[in-house]
Amino acid sequence: MKDFLIAPSILSANFATLGLEVDNVLKAGADIVHFDVMDNHYVPNLTIGPMVCKALRDHGITADIDAHLMVSPVDRMINDFAEAGASYITFHPDASTHVDRSLQLIREAGCKSGLVFNPAASLAELEYVIDKVDMILLMSVNPGFGGQSFIPATLRKLEQARRIIDDSGLDIRLEVDGGVKVDNIREIAQAGADTFVAGSAIFNAPDYKTQIDLMRAELAK
Ligand code: DX5
Ligand code: ZN
Repeated sequence: MKDFLIAPSILSANFATLGLEVDNVLKAGADIVHFDVMDNHYVPNLTIGPMVCKALRDHGITADIDAHLMVSPVDRMINDFAEAGASYITFHPDASTHVDRSLQLIREAGCKSGLVFNPAASLAELEYVIDKVDMILLMSVNPGFGGQSFIPATLRKLEQARRIIDDSGLDIRLEVDGGVKVDNIREIAQAGADTFVAGSAIFNAPDYKTQIDLMRAELAK
């Protein structure tokens, strides 16, 4: 089977017991932790920053942490997240004045880098920086909130991103974020995604393991 990763978005976790929530979702079979950072500027919501990322590391979380920055400007947050223990740092190209520089800063800080594309954003921005990205993240909802519905046009865009990655011959993950559920994950994988963010689908389920097992069963079909 392809190397599929399930990345629960802790945006839908219970923040009052976040460490335990992350322990539980990893015990339930999650691969990486998707960490949504919102600044009430780039997106109309406010969430968590590097202190919380560090708190999860201090709590003993060793899994990769996938920091999805929905902040502008981007650059001054990069070192803070690297020092806080982020594994991946991804950002939206329209949130950075100098995309190439931001990508370089992430790798220089020792993290894996990624670009995030909103539903209406073209993938053209990848052309001259593809060798500087470790992950491409396609938003399948407009960023800012959990619990929205998957935008179907993302499937065609995933196919396009998959072709770009395959043509590059580089080792780049293709992540999808927003509205991923048991009943659409297979179709999303067929379109080319290999890394699946799921917030409400996992954290609103009565049993995380059952939900993750159902997703993996769909991916194995
Ligand atoms: C939205 C966030 C997502 C969100 C996904 O801006 O980037 O990671 O938490 O939530 P669901 O899976 O509920 O759509
Ligand atoms: Zn996200």
